[in-house]
Amino acid sequence: MRALTWQGTEKVSVETVPDPRIEQPTDAIVRVTSTAICGSDLHLYKILGMYLDAGDILGHEAMGVVEEVGSGAGSLAVGDRVVIPFNISCGTCWMCSRGLFAQCETTQVRSQDMGASLFGFTKLYGQVPGGQAEYLRVPQAQFGPIVVPDDGSPDERYLYLSDVAPTAWQAVEYAQVPAGGTVVVVGLGPIGQMAARIAAHRGASKVIGLDLVPERLAMARRHGIEVIDVSAVDDLAAAVRDLTGGRGPDSAIDAVGMEAHGSSAAAAAQKMAGLLPDALSRPLIEKAGVDRLAALLTAFDLVRRGGTVSISGVYGGAVDGLPMMQLFDKGVTLRMGQANVKRWIDDLMPLVQDAADPLGVLDLRTHRLPLESAPDAYEMFQKKHDGCIKVVLDPTVTSV
Ligand SMILES: NC(=O)c1ccc[n+]([C@@H]2O[C@H](COP(=O)([O-])OP(=O)(O)OC[C@H]3O[C@@H](n4cnc5c(N)ncnc54)[C@H](O)[C@@H]3O)[C@@H](O)[C@H]2O)c1
Ligand SMILES: [Zn+2]
Ligand SMILES: [Zn+2]
Repeated sequence: MRALTWQGTEKVSVETVPDPRIEQPTDAIVRVTSTAICGSDLHLYKILGMYLDAGDILGHEAMGVVEEVGSGAGSLAVGDRVVIPFNISCGTCWMCSRGLFAQCETTQVRSQDMGASLFGFTKLYGQVPGGQAEYLRVPQAQFGPIVVPDDGSPDERYLYLSDVAPTAWQAVEYAQVPAGGTVVVVGLGPIGQMAARIAAHRGASKVIGLDLVPERLAMARRHGIEVIDVSAVDDLAAAVRDLTGGRGPDSAIDAVGMEAHGSSAAAAAQKMAGLLPDALSRPLIEKAGVDRLAALLTAFDLVRRGGTVSISGVYGGAVDGLPMMQLFDKGVTLRMGQANVKRWIDDLMPLVQDAADPLGVLDLRTHRLPLESAPDAYEMFQKKHDGCIKVVLDPTVTSV
């Protein structure tokens, strides 16, 4: 089959690789019909190469049609239209039974001291081949796949159930926005867009979105979000306080993560880590402060005293300097983590199926391209060229 593979820092290519096959009774094989590129893939593309091997298949936002099932794949049936959650979880262990699917004790990567295995996501998360490919082997298929109706609707109606929608739902849940309260969303990539829309849908009286890319600001604005271009204001904290009665928002969501704009020293450290041999760069990432904290520091600064900061953006360093005095003095609550995808599907399914499209799932993707175009698509998404906000790759189209 054809699959998008990581080959080196900022280098990916579509290669012919062996077709996946059933390895465990609980496996299924899915023929992928749509598979998106995520901001998390950009971290792998640029700075986390020390955790990847050349040839690793990327991708963790896939959906398609079940081709084959193992004898232990439960009620899943050949021909089912399914969305595949990015976490691989068993559904029955101690963690799963508490809804902590990103910490599944059956698939935890204990050798790395990490949580549940993830598709297409480095050795830290099990080095499981990802979904930017024609076919995907799905472990724990008795629990993971979300069966969606074969109702003729475009894949994008359901595709974001794999990651973007539950991640954004969890971001809002963890933000603990009080009824009628206010929330600022830092970063308006796909996660920030969806988090802002969900916060508004769930009753926040004011949602403020921050970014510096004009078309991302414009997309949020057309979904009723008040936006601020962070590159155009001198005093961001004052601008946000002005919109929130002088006090600051009840909650702040970091939807940016470790590659934020505006953190030049850490950007240099990340670049250096990306260029070093793996044996030298892993300790640098794991034991030194290499995260670009601009977005997180913005969230800490903006949230009101006694408010909550919810972190969806991914971070990787160990000893980055955090403003503990500010956090302690303001009495800030922090919540964070990989999304526990299946925990939020019952909340989301009626919304994505609603013909009125209250979350605007049909207004997020800006590009739908053949899988063969994936290398160009990575570069376009990373550089935010051509108005790119979300790319969906189509492995069923063979010619470019
Ligand atoms: N927690 C999870 O389970 C989970 C799931 C999916 C994605 N993520 C993470 O969420 C983050 C966002 O993902 P995405 O797909 O939306 O990515 P993205 O890269 O498209 O979006 C990031 C956005 O932040 C903006 N930005 C950068 N620096 C900023 C700053 N200082 N102030 C304001 N805006 C700034 C960028 O312009 C961009 O629009 C990534 O870190 C990704 O790894 C986490
Ligand atoms: Zn993702
Ligand atoms: Zn489990």
